[in-house]
Amino acid sequence: MSEFRRIAVLGAGNIGSALIGGILKGGVTDRKHLTATVRTPERAREVSQKYGIAVTAGGNREAAAQADVVILSVKPPTLPRVVEEIRDVLRGDQVLISVAAAVPIVLIEKLIGRRIAVFRAMPNIPVVVDEGATALAANSVAGPSHRKLVEGIFRAVGVVCFVEEDMLHAVTALSGSGPAYIYMVIEAMIAGGLKMGLSHEVATRLAEQTVLGAAKLVRETMVHPAILKDQVITPGGVTISAIHELERHGLRAMLISAIETATNHSRKLSQSLVERFGAT
Ligand SMILES: NC(=O)c1ccc[n+]([C@@H]2O[C@H](COP(=O)([O-])OP(=O)(O)OC[C@H]3O[C@@H](n4cnc5c(N)ncnc54)[C@H](OP(=O)(O)O)[C@@H]3O)[C@@H](O)[C@H]2O)c1
Repeated sequence: MSEFRRIAVLGAGNIGSALIGGILKGGVTDRKHLTATVRTPERAREVSQKYGIAVTAGGNREAAAQADVVILSVKPPTLPRVVEEIRDVLRGDQVLISVAAAVPIVLIEKLIGRRIAVFRAMPNIPVVVDEGATALAANSVAGPSHRKLVEGIFRAVGVVCFVEEDMLHAVTALSGSGPAYIYMVIEAMIAGGLKMGLSHEVATRLAEQTVLGAAKLVRETMVHPAILKDQVITPGGVTISAIHELERHGLRAMLISAIETATNHSRKLSQSLVERFGAT
């Protein structure tokens, strides 16, 4: 018997195809044991050519039936339909992973209608460059070997942590949506550079590298960002004059409020899905 697990990625879009790349690069399984589905034949050809795996337009049932691990990577409104499609072919020895935002495990379990290890993953878009931040939650069927397997899949595309499922709302607000906030920061820093006469090219390179380098310093030194920030400040200098402006406009309060609002919004979305599909 092959040592490789058979993995099916249903919905090889942005996140799904990044996972395919990570699974292959990380040696989680090989090309023969990895399949994917999408909606359109054009996308199926594209993904198949890029990764050298079998990809079908539709065919979720067949892909799920042959897999040990099924990854659901379709958009949240599509997920109930795809689960309905595959529920008859799912087996108790399989592992199901959903990356769909706001779709709770209780709803997935209800749609499946049987006991099976179910994981919810909240990755973020830097998984496409193997620098993702993923939080995982699981149901009570999932055991240590399942957790190790699922962690291995997401570790291949970045960092991974386990949380209680209810915390996935906060995770969605912080790291799931977080790249969008940081892109706004980069965009604004570029605009500031342009306003002060830097070229597009120079402003972009300096802004992107500043964010990358600052994050790397937090990770590698494990020093609190407030202390690192203090190290950049010279009394009466340039940085403190900029920080005064940022404080005047409430940068930190804005980000805290943004994460609070997004967490509450995620919780509401989830609740409305549960009400719509009747899971309790
Ligand atoms: N993007 C993010 O930053 C992010 C972060 C965290 C979690 N998520 C979650 O990840 C999931 C996927 O998001 P995404 O950004 O990767 O979306 P996406 O790029 O739109 O990918 C969705 C994929 O699903 C395919 N699809 C649609 N209907 C299908 C069906 N019936 N059967 C099989 N495949 C089908 C689409 O195929 P076609 O290409 O042929 O239309 C597309 O490739 C979502 O549930 C989202 O909540 C996303």
